[in-house]
Amino acid sequence: MPNLSAAPDSTVRRLLIVDDDVDFAVSTSRALGLAGVDCTLVHSGAGALDQLARDPVEVVLLDIRLGGEDGTDLAARLRARHPDLIVIIMTAYASVDSAVAALKAGAYDYLRKPFFLDELVQALDRCFQLAQLRRDKARAERQLALLHQIEAASQLAAGLSHDFKNMLAVIGANLMVIDDGLHAHDVLKPYATDAREAALTAADLVARLMGFARGEGPPGAVIDLGAVVGNVAAMLTRTLCQGMALDLDLPAAPLLVPADPRQVETALLNLLINARDATGGRGRVAIRLSRVWRGGPYARLEVVDDGPGLTPEGLERALEPLFTTKPEGTGLGLPMIQQMALRHGGRFRIGNAGGGDAMGGDGARGARAVLDLPCLGGDEAPDPGLDQGSGENM
Ligand SMILES: Nc1ncnc2c1ncn2[C@@H]1O[C@H](COP(=O)(O)OP(=O)(O)OP(=O)(O)O)[C@@H](O)[C@H]1O
Ligand SMILES: [Mg+2]
Repeated sequence: MPNLSAAPDSTVRRLLIVDDDVDFAVSTSRALGLAGVDCTLVHSGAGALDQLARDPVEVVLLDIRLGGEDGTDLAARLRARHPDLIVIIMTAYASVDSAVAALKAGAYDYLRKPFFLDELVQALDRCFQLAQLRRDKARAERQLALLHQIEAASQLAAGLSHDFKNMLAVIGANLMVIDDGLHAHDVLKPYATDAREAALTAADLVARLMGFARGEGPPGAVIDLGAVVGNVAAMLTRTLCQGMALDLDLPAAPLLVPADPRQVETALLNLLINARDATGGRGRVAIRLSRVWRGGPYARLEVVDDGPGLTPEGLERALEPLFTTKPEGTGLGLPMIQQMALRHGGRFRIGNAGGGDAMGGDGARGARAVLDLPCLGGDEAPDPGLDQGSGENM
């Protein structure tokens, strides 16, 4: 039995066979089943249109004569509704004219009955490879578009940050003079102090935006990620996440990561604020830190909340700069984490913990964010029990 070449990813190879010769269709589908192709059979044009509307496939094997129907016309109609459909037309009545007509109707290939199974398998192999290439291209285009958006947001952030930095310096300096000049018991004193602190916070935000725009990478310092995560969590438990339950799961041994601690803190802060927003400030958040193996040692920081999770649009667009569903949101939190991860040689993904998206799931609901950063030590082969980081493809 000829075998189709190994699928480059785990996608099942599915084929729709459209032939009014039921015996031929059944025997072909059995033979292809042994070669790893999952076939669905229909015996008319209407059946094919109906089946594709209910359950689309990428490749169709179509007989040129379907009782009274013309398979070439059907190929054109199928492709009008499903422009990416890859059609192989087969016929017992091969002629140059019918071959040309089939290809004009958008058929990708043409087989003359009777054919050897090998021929069919080879033709299908080419079709499935083409389908895979198209999927890879679409994914690469999506990633490129995302990078362009990040670049555009970086430029915007750089321009704005520069101007704001100067204005804030003036505001901050003046407020300091006013604040220092007021007596402690003056009624205006608390207002001046608050304004001065707000100016400092704004200056800090601008500094972060400039870091985003400049694309700061790791500074050469090595941090114990567990200690940084523990500090941020403790600080937030007392402040922003007061009403929430934070479950911390940190490794006993230090997890050494070459990273800028401020960027790691900001990333975790952004994730926890998102979790707080999603749970209305009263949810439960699990923060887990572990060491995983992804062709090398990585530190994995996971933040899982029990909020409603990302919307379908959020699952698609959460990493796009400026995408936000919050009235006060800037939509820069997650793209900044993504950029920081890439610049540190790592990876960032967000999905829903309960599954139904590329993140897989463990039955919990809510959002699940995963930040992987290269860590030091453990260049040896992974423990058998160590997470291989596979099966997640976001
Ligand atoms: N834990 C979460 N649960 C549900 N949705 C989330 C979660 N985290 C992020 N999102 C979705 O992703 C969007 C983008 O998040 P991101 O952190 O980039 O921006 P933001 O939180 O809207 O604004 P900000 O720039 O202030 O962080 C959010 O508006 C929200 O729709
Ligand atoms: Mg946010």
